[in-house]
Amino acid sequence: MKILFVASEAYPLVKTGGLGDVVYSLPHALHARGADVRLVLPGYRALLRQLDQVRLLGWLEVRGAEGIVSARILETRHPDYAFPLWLVDCPALFDREGNPYVDESGRDWPDNAERFAVFARVAALLAQDALDLGWQPAVVHTHDWQSGLVAAFLAEQPARPKTVFTIHNLAYGGNFTHSDFVRLQLPGHWWSSEGVEFHGGFSMLKAGIVYADAVTTVSPTYAQEICTPEFGCGLDGLLRSRQYKLHGILNGIDTTIWNPSTDTHLPARYSVGRIQPGKRRNKEALLEHFLPLVDDAAMRAPLLGLVGRLVEQKGVDWVLAAIPVLLAETDVRLVLLGSGQAVYEKKLTRLAKQHPERLFVKIGYDEPLAHLIEAGADLFLMPSRFEPCGLNQMYSLRYGTPPVVFRTGGLADTVVDANDTTLEDATATGFVFETSGAPAFLAAIHRALDLYRQLKQWRRLQQTGMRQSFDWSESAGHYLALYSI
Ligand code: ADP
Ligand code: GLC
Repeated sequence: MKILFVASEAYPLVKTGGLGDVVYSLPHALHARGADVRLVLPGYRALLRQLDQVRLLGWLEVRGAEGIVSARILETRHPDYAFPLWLVDCPALFDREGNPYVDESGRDWPDNAERFAVFARVAALLAQDALDLGWQPAVVHTHDWQSGLVAAFLAEQPARPKTVFTIHNLAYGGNFTHSDFVRLQLPGHWWSSEGVEFHGGFSMLKAGIVYADAVTTVSPTYAQEICTPEFGCGLDGLLRSRQYKLHGILNGIDTTIWNPSTDTHLPARYSVGRIQPGKRRNKEALLEHFLPLVDDAAMRAPLLGLVGRLVEQKGVDWVLAAIPVLLAETDVRLVLLGSGQAVYEKKLTRLAKQHPERLFVKIGYDEPLAHLIEAGADLFLMPSRFEPCGLNQMYSLRYGTPPVVFRTGGLADTVVDANDTTLEDATATGFVFETSGAPAFLAAIHRALDLYRQLKQWRRLQQTGMRQSFDWSESAGHYLALYSI
């Protein structure tokens, strides 16, 4: 089966979050099951810089905001990829410094509507083999708002591949104005509440939901949640009306990249059969990263880790409220890695300055440190208000670092709360709190710290977590079944 993936980021070339991980892992899992895959990405400057060799497949001309835009389609073979990558090289839109979506100061690129409308138009043409390459996909699988228009453009075509649209995060709508819609000369009949129109503007995410043949999201619980007003971001009514084509398929994790027994980012490797002394050595290395001298007290104290985007979704305000209490009432140390909203970055940095011996904060994006935190921390914090799937809690389970999570979305689907019953039958893997807010989060951390002192129970909890199978093959099977309907 020929499958065209269309996405705006892909590990390790360009990644801002879990989307990049999934866009790397899922097509590889499909490829491993015999699918013939191509992945189309925007030709960002940072991406093109990493490539040794590219081959020009041809030019495509599509409508932009001011007239016709010409895009070069490049093909490359990347050592980390088992199949060819196709890049939409359009320098006016993608050849710039900074993040795929925002400028250096964190503001959305002002021409995002044009950037991703052009990208989608080009991808839709490639899906129809407009370059006569002799490669015609049966399925086009698009991801999040940045590729939401692809299904809409394809829906205009009488003979076309099947379209699948995956919602990785409903909170990012790709919302633009009516004048963007007009300037981009999008088809007038899309402009209705049954089409892309959304609160006076239009939403590229909504386009994906309306026009794709099948819509998926990345966990079964989130698939239910987004059909409710609380999590639906104003699209719950639409999603309820499309439930017949909405599927929740849990993400997997890449167990070759995230594996404590082979992870080259770690100073010591370990496995479920022999967690120590490897894990302890990683804790030491993690503390050494921030402290000139690591004493016994620091090694004995529980180390709480967090990696993630510092945005409201991730419950950073609950973490900020919990930190002073934890520092006052317990002996824990905390290590936090992330970047995001300036206000959270500033508050965390200020707190860390006040507690240099116990609170370690690194603002930024740091892949090796993310691995070391997963391995070196004793407990992983992920109190997200909502979480479509979440990969970090699965990484932490695999690294023997039980997570503390709010019961929502993929967190609810992947972590089993430690209570008398689940500890007894050895199904417990972490700590789940049920009420939103810092007090319940703190209570869950306290429960975790109590168990941490009970070595045998703790070891069992770690081992159960490490044995969970989150690899991609099962999810890939669900996608293949969906493609074939
Ligand atoms: P989301 O996609 O909402 O950000 P996920 O848990 O699905 O959340 O995925 C986050 C991914 O991004 C993980 O691979 C995580 O390790 C990585 N990540 C997030 N922030 C950072 C950071 N500051 N440094 C390194 N990796 C990060
Ligand atoms: C999004 C979600 C996250 C999910 C990831 C990959 O960024 O916030 O929960 O794991 O996409 O699907």
